[in-house]
Amino acid sequence: MSSLPNTHEVLLRNDHLLDGRVAILGLSDPSVLSQCPSAGLAMTEHAGVFKSMASYTDWQLCFGYDSEGLQTGAFDTVIVFLPKARAELSLRLAMAQFLGRQGASLVMIGEKKEGIAGGSKQFLQAVPDGMKVDSARHCQVWNGTNSQPKDVFALEDYLEWTSLTCAGIEVSVAGLPGVFSEGELDGGTRLLLENLAEKPLTGDKVLDFACGAGVIGTWLQAHRRSEDNEPGVVDGVDVQAQAVACARATYERAGAQGDIYAEDGLAGLKGRWQAVVTNPPFHSGVKTDTSMTEQFIRQVARHLVPGGELRLVANSFLPYEALLQRFIGPVQTLAQDKRFTVYRAFQRLPR
Ligand SMILES: C[S@@+](CC[C@H](N)C(=O)[O-])C[C@H]1O[C@@H](n2cnc3c(N)ncnc32)[C@H](O)[C@@H]1O
Repeated sequence: MSSLPNTHEVLLRNDHLLDGRVAILGLSDPSVLSQCPSAGLAMTEHAGVFKSMASYTDWQLCFGYDSEGLQTGAFDTVIVFLPKARAELSLRLAMAQFLGRQGASLVMIGEKKEGIAGGSKQFLQAVPDGMKVDSARHCQVWNGTNSQPKDVFALEDYLEWTSLTCAGIEVSVAGLPGVFSEGELDGGTRLLLENLAEKPLTGDKVLDFACGAGVIGTWLQAHRRSEDNEPGVVDGVDVQAQAVACARATYERAGAQGDIYAEDGLAGLKGRWQAVVTNPPFHSGVKTDTSMTEQFIRQVARHLVPGGELRLVANSFLPYEALLQRFIGPVQTLAQDKRFTVYRAFQRLPR
């Protein structure tokens, strides 16, 4: 039995819709590409999926919504998979309207539990003659004509800036549709930053795992400067293309130092840091999923210098403490509020 996501199965079941030059936006499993009638453009905003697409050399492969090198009106059919974050659908539909020629076929596929019913309303605004053409495997397929093609599609046009203050330090943070906690400071991040103000990290080479829009790294450096310390370097890593774009923009505007890597977890990173700081992911789509963070905890020790520190904030109900103890070293609870807990663990020194 195939293990393709339902949405991809439903695309193959409707392969008569894959007509002419085809672009597929929001791919989550590249193996579907080998089953498409002809090659075209494939876009994913997930760094891990993007890496695993590399062998599909006959396809034009895109990471996220950067339109550099893309040509307007170049496709006869554009497939849009419903994104997990609803806000991102506007971006994905705009990219579809840009890539599709006048009169191209625009197709949207999404799962009911991920909100295809609400998504179809948005689809109909962009594609007024759209209709539901199939319903299977808990998914719906919508199809209509690209009657409002876009000549221009630039990611910068969707960038919004928000000023956030925590522990007296103000930072300006870039936002794009679909980025975590866009336009506000997450409660967990706030507790973590307040704790970092009280108990600063030692070491000036830090990694922010799952950095989102780069708020933690930018704040850390601004905080150190405010105390007349060298700002140090805070590298960041995130799996999502929009997060990576935002973190780079946030760092650039703040003059913050550090590289932002597009990676799925830690596997693609080389090197060790004096401290790793994180508000890690706990969702996969609409479901609570701690597997990514559990894997991170298992791997992070090899990216810490001996005696290096992990500072992590998480929802208090999530079961990380025992894992931190087992894979890193002695754990302390540094702060707690009604929802979140900040943990610290030092990497065990070699005996
Ligand atoms: C809870 S948010 C925190 C974002 C940011 N650090 C903040 O505090 O605002 C978690 C981030 O993890 C990222 N993420 C999810 N899965 C990941 C993975 N496998 N590898 C790296 N980052 C991941 C998400 O894109 C999201 O930006």
